[in-house]
Amino acid sequence: MDNMCTMWIKKEELDKAAVYLRSGDVVAFPTETVYGLGADATSSQAVQGIFEAKGRPSDNPLIVHIGQLTQLDQLTPRVPQKAQQLMDKFWPGPLTIILEAYTDKIAPEVTAGLSTVGIRMPNHPLALDLIRRAGCPIAAPSANTSGKPSPTTPQHVMNDLDGKIKAIVDGGETEVGLESTVIDVTNDKYPVILRPGSISQQAIEDCIGSVETSTKLEKSSGPKSPGMKYRHYSPKQPVKIIYDDWDRQISKLLKNKEKIGILANDDVLRQFDSKVSAVYSLGSSKNVHQASKWLYSGLRAFDQMDVTVILVEAHDEEGMGIAYMNRLKKASSNE
Ligand code: TXA
Ligand code: MG
Repeated sequence: MDNMCTMWIKKEELDKAAVYLRSGDVVAFPTETVYGLGADATSSQAVQGIFEAKGRPSDNPLIVHIGQLTQLDQLTPRVPQKAQQLMDKFWPGPLTIILEAYTDKIAPEVTAGLSTVGIRMPNHPLALDLIRRAGCPIAAPSANTSGKPSPTTPQHVMNDLDGKIKAIVDGGETEVGLESTVIDVTNDKYPVILRPGSISQQAIEDCIGSVETSTKLEKSSGPKSPGMKYRHYSPKQPVKIIYDDWDRQISKLLKNKEKIGILANDDVLRQFDSKVSAVYSLGSSKNVHQASKWLYSGLRAFDQMDVTVILVEAHDEEGMGIAYMNRLKKASSNE
């Protein structure tokens, strides 16, 4: 699969992308969260192409994307009541629901041998149209090289995967910028959020009642979502989370002759622009949705810049801020 020429596909040519998917090729496409790297979820050979292109460990399962509810019949024998309520409320949208899997109908590479499968119906017109045209459920992890931040623009995908995948559907910048919330409802009595996202625990509890979060569980029993155990992206340079004391932190680092990059909203950037080596905007004023949308672009941008430390603005850990801080803490740790 190496050294192919990766094609750009415009939204008017979506049928080309559908034909590639149907014939077992790997195609990147936009969703409302981040770009996905898609292949026919019923074909082992097609799905192996995803793992090869990303360099993804084979024990980390993929999310299956559907374009209509009838596709569930191919994927799971049972939709528990709480799962049904979540689908009614949040699909199409950034919520991945873990259900019991039809292991004889889904390629085993998708589930990494588990008896469960993560499913989501993305809320993006191009993604929905593409999946419907392809006519098969589409397995798709984020379309980055394993270990890099998820791509939020088609150019990020090209930078990572040029020559390794058949095509990229150009849908511009993604809206949310962080990956979907993942919830396990295989045990209807005991739903667990495995990964925070833009659909908050509160919104989920308003829909189905109380849920656990895996961050609490992990302290007692180790990671529950296979993806959680892998090292996540940290840039070459150390990342420091700044809660409030920009002035003090910057002065201290300047004394140590550090070259500082700042990833924050424009109010902060205006204040410190002249003192630091590089800045990247997370929006015109402090706003966790804008910060989430541009966090990964910013981290990618600093990879190319001459800075020795990256300072990133913190947000309150509530609602979207929980997902934002979850990803930011992963970027700032060296585990
Ligand atoms: O927003 C998103 O979810 C994006 C777009 C493309 O849809 N996709 C995405 O996929 O972020 P990926 O592969 O990067 O993350 C999927 C996460 C991983 O942490 C994986 O371990 C977990 O979902 N997962 C998938 N299937 C699972 C299963 N059966 N049980 C537990 N966790 C599962
Ligand atoms: Mg990913």
